[in-house]
Parts: sequence; C-alpha cells; structure tokens
Amino acid sequence: MRVLVAGGAGYIGSVVTAALLEGGHEVTVLDDLSTGHADAVPSGARFVQASLHDSAPVLADVRPEAVLHFAAKSLVGESQVKPEIYWDTNVSGTLALLEAMRAADCRRIVFSSTAATYGEPEQVPIREDAPTRPTNTYGATKLAVDAMLTSYAAAYDFAAVSLRYFNVAGAAYGLGERHTTETHLIPIALQVVAGRREHLTIYGEDYPTEDGTCIRDYIHVEDLSDAHLLALTAPSPGEHRIYNLGNGTGFSVQQVIDAVREVTGHPVPVEVGQRRAGDPAQLVASSDRIRADLGWTPKHTDLAGIVRDAWETAQK
Ligand SMILES: NC(=O)c1ccc[n+]([C@@H]2O[C@H](COP(=O)([O-])OP(=O)(O)OC[C@H]3O[C@@H](n4cnc5c(N)ncnc54)[C@H](O)[C@@H]3O)[C@@H](O)[C@H]2O)c1
Repeated sequence: MRVLVAGGAGYIGSVVTAALLEGGHEVTVLDDLSTGHADAVPSGARFVQASLHDSAPVLADVRPEAVLHFAAKSLVGESQVKPEIYWDTNVSGTLALLEAMRAADCRRIVFSSTAATYGEPEQVPIREDAPTRPTNTYGATKLAVDAMLTSYAAAYDFAAVSLRYFNVAGAAYGLGERHTTETHLIPIALQVVAGRREHLTIYGEDYPTEDGTCIRDYIHVEDLSDAHLLALTAPSPGEHRIYNLGNGTGFSVQQVIDAVREVTGHPVPVEVGQRRAGDPAQLVASSDRIRADLGWTPKHTDLAGIVRDAWETAQK
C-alpha cells in the first residue's frame, strides 16, 4: 500500500515506518522536524520536510492510499502554559491534513490518540466507553481530533481508527526515544544511569497504591507498531473505531526504577517531589476491544524486557 506517515521522524512514527517498509509498503514521511530527527527516518522511505499545515501539495503529489498520523505536540506541561501551540498543531494541523486527504481522494487514516483523553478514571482498567474528561490541553486537543474523525467518517466516508496509547516505551529497529524535552520515565531513568542527569524526581509518594507511587501501563513500541499495521486495513468507509492500546498490566514508578537498576546494574538516585496536578494514581488500559476485533496481542509484557530494549538502543 502507498502510505504517508505524518510525524515519521519521531519516536513512534519512525518505528512504524520501519515496520511498514518491512511489510513491503511504499512509505513517504512528512515531518517538520520540530521534535523529530531526520536521521530517524528509515532508509527506504521518502522524506519530505513539511508541516501538517502545508501538507496539501505533498498529498497531491504522493496520492497515498492511507495516512498514519503521529505528528503532534505532546508535552502535557507545555500544553497548559502554551495552549495555542497545541490547538494550532494538533487540531488546526490535523484539520489541514484531513482536508489535504480529501483533496487527494485518500480517506483511510490511523491517528495517535492518547490515554490523556480520559483524564482521571472512575474505573481501572480503562475501557473505551469510559467518560472522556481530559485534565489538560494536550488531552483535550487529542479528544477534539477523535471527534473530528467521527465527523469525517460520517460525512465523507473516511475509514478511521484512533489508537489511544498509554505509556509507550522500549525500542525497535534500533530506534528508541530521543525526545528533545524528555518527560517519560524510562528514558529519564536511563539518562540518570548514563550520567546525563543527576537524579530522577518521583512526583508524589503518597498515592493510594501499594508503594505510594503512580501506576502506569507501559506498552512496547513494537506491540504498538503491530497494532498500526492491523488498524490500517480494519475499518470500512464511514467507520471510525477507537481502540485503547496498553499491555493491561500496571507498573508503579518505583517498580520501573527498580527494573532500570536491575537491567543496567547502576544506581538511580531519586528525589521525591510534590504530586503534579492532574496526575491520576493509576492509568491502566483495557485493550480487550482491539484484542477481540483485530486479534492484537502484546508480545512484550515483561517490564525488564521493555527497559532492556530501551537501554540497549540508548547505548548505541
Ligand atoms: N510517546 C508516548 O508515550 C505517547 C503516548 C500517547 C500518545 N502519543 C502520541 O503519539 C504520537 C507520536 O509520539 P512520539 O512520542 O513519537 O512523539 P515525537 O515528538 O517523537 O514525534 C512527533 C513527530 O511529529 C512531528 N511534528 C510535530 N508537529 C508537526 C507539524 N506541525 N507538522 C509536521 N510534523 C510535525 C515532530 O517533528 C516529530 O517528528 C504523538 O501524536 C503523541 O501525542 C505518544
């Protein structure tokens, strides 16, 4: 299939691009390199440096049969203090992309949504029919795009899938997390191990969990990538499906730190800070829907294995 990957120079988009190429697809990456890296675009993919806002000529030229849309701003803290960047990139940028798709007669899309669309959960594991009450601008913009896809499916026969990722981690094809501003726990802990940071901050040790630290669901980027390939052909025209993607097991911040110490054999000095506003005690996915509909099963459920893959790639 001829596929356009928006945001394919980023962490997840580059891994999925490599998987698409391995599957024999023809791939063009569109990315403005605002947070991505040109050298992360797998060789074999065509690369066009452009913004979502200027995607129309690119789509007119490439004429993709499907779009995988990873391009976004995704720092929760920044979204609270500079919301205009998030509404502009994530919402206006996506609207421009959908209009470019319509003009190029491409109506198949898989979108990177997020667990942040749910906000503070009433029940864990979180199912797709849980209330969506985002507690930050980032989550609100992603939820707006989910709504946009529902409208485009209904009005213009788009075949759309929103994949609501929980915490993505690990590495594949030699591609790992290299966010310019790193906010994710595993890469931060590995930066401490590598001597690039002095310590790691645990935000709150007084949550109602067994060890007092927050619990999150870590999904290996390779499992996530498998889900994208399945989602690519799943919906019929006029359908918008929403699937959660997590491995279904929660690990506490403390358990992650312990796994990093065990895998790397290095100490991870920590400092305990205040809770962050809007950080729920537990976020764990129910991925029953995608398992049942598409036969997706995560292969990497062992935390140490996820950390090991991230560590080995970070060292290279
Ligand atoms: N990493 C996670 O744990 C996680 C969890 C939930 C959802 N997500 C979502 O998954 C997607 C990918 O995340 P990631 O961790 O790979 O992030 P990333 O920052 O590594 O990748 C995003 C890519 O999009 C590009 N981009 C940003 N704005 C653009 C624009 N206006 N035009 C063109 N390109 C643009 C960036 O340059 C970057 O290469 C994002 O949409 C993110 O919100 C990620």
